[in-house]
This record gives sequence, C-alpha cells and structure tokens, in this order.
Amino acid sequence: MSLSKVDTIIKTVENLRPMPTSITRALRAIEDSSATSVEISEIIGLDQALSASILQSANSVSMGFSTDCSKLSEAVMRLGFKRLKGLILGIAAVGPFNQSLKGYRFGAGELWNHSIATAVSAEWVARELRYPDPEEAYTAGLLHDMGKLFLDQFVFSDYTRIVDLMLKYKLTLYMAEEQLLGIDHAKVGGLIAEKWNFPVVLVDAIRYHHTPSFARSNQRLPAIVNVANSYFENTGNQSALFFERSIHPETYQILNISQDRIDQMHVQLTNYMLSSG
Ligand SMILES: [Fe+2]
Ligand SMILES: [Fe+2]
Repeated sequence: MSLSKVDTIIKTVENLRPMPTSITRALRAIEDSSATSVEISEIIGLDQALSASILQSANSVSMGFSTDCSKLSEAVMRLGFKRLKGLILGIAAVGPFNQSLKGYRFGAGELWNHSIATAVSAEWVARELRYPDPEEAYTAGLLHDMGKLFLDQFVFSDYTRIVDLMLKYKLTLYMAEEQLLGIDHAKVGGLIAEKWNFPVVLVDAIRYHHTPSFARSNQRLPAIVNVANSYFENTGNQSALFFERSIHPETYQILNISQDRIDQMHVQLTNYMLSSG
C-alpha cells in the first residue's frame, strides 16, 4: 500500500539529517557567556552559506545602521546573539532562505526578503505592543515560513490543483495546502522546528502563525507574526497569489487591538522602514 501524501511528508521530516556539528558548535558558543563575537564568528566562518546569510541580514534595513558591514564579527555584534541564534537554527534546519522555490513560484531571494521583512516588522510590532522580548519576535518572524522551503517540492507537483482550489473557493494558501496535501507549511515548519529542538515558544510561533489561538503557550507571539506577515503587499509577479495577507480573527483579541490600530501601525512601520533604509 502506498503512503498517503501527508504520511510521506511527515516521514520525510522525520528523516531529515541531524544537526551538523558545525551548527551545534556555533550554538554552544553563543550560549557560552564567555565567548566573544570574534570567537563566534570564527566558528560561523567555517560555514559559507551561514556566513553569507548572517552578513546579508546584518546589512538589511532592519538594523538601522547606515554603513554596510562586511566583517562577520561586526555582523555578529550588530545582530546580537539572540537574533543570530534564530538565524543559525533556521538555516541549519532548512538550508539557505535565499534559494528559489519552484512550487511556490518564488524567485531567488524572494522568500528571504519576505522573511527578513516579517522579522523586522514582528520586532517592531512587538515593541509597539510592549511584548517583553522583541528579539524573540524577530526570530519568530524570520522563521515563520521555513516550512515552505521543505513543502515546496510537494506544492510543485500539485501546483495547478492548489491554485484552482484557492481561486475557486477563495481559500488562503495554508488552507489549500491542508486540503490537498493534508498538512500546511506552518505545521510542517513546526514539525521541523520540533525535530531540531527549537524552544517550544518558537515551535508554536512557527506552527500557529496563521492560527495563533491554537498555540499551547504564549499566543501573543504567533499573533504578532500573524500581523507582521499581513503587512506585505502582493509583489505583482507570479508568486503574488501565495502571499497571505489575512489576519486571523482571534489575533485581535489575543493582542487586544483593533483593525484601525493594525492599519495605523502599518503606516508607522512603513515610515520607519523608509527612514532607516
Ligand atoms: Fe505562512
Ligand atoms: Fe509569510
């Protein structure tokens, strides 16, 4: 008997390779309070893909620095250990975020840009709403769609049916994935995060970024990501259909905010991003 699609997907997640030693070493160094940013960047420097992504994100609009930084140790300092840890976890688990995704029709760098933009917005929204750990929101925003990197191959083979379903029944992407594949990218991301022993709060933020009221603990974090994720306009190209702008109805209660406030924050955030870019 052949496995159903969802069983195949879950099996493939279970068979993901274990965390490479270069990554565990880097994570350990970050945890070690005596390690300096130079020491940490030396370990990271051994991994090219990781180094490139860290430099790229330290240079993104988000960090509010006007000069480019080309040195890894400086990038490590700019990002701060907490954001750095999230970045390493994500890249280690699913590979570089700047690859192109054939299934979702994302060109090279498109998912990366979306992830960074969501990370910056989530951190910003978190500060606005006095969430106690804004850097945690950055990490959750950065990793929220990591399941897409994994689910892409499955979306690829079902692309036409997914698009048809979305258009016909006005479904959002995660609903169409759930219907056709038996699992959506948020859940897949959560499973990967769990397999790789991410902290529970992060597992939940990834898993429930479209349905925050289902989170076991700390529903505010997935709700913040839910809002931050909604701030990104369709880009007008092939992947436009796959950007999900809908806010979950329960997000308003969880964060105790109105649509007006969400819109108002969107305007402020846009100004902030323009001024720091
Ligand atoms: Fe998503
Ligand atoms: Fe997203």
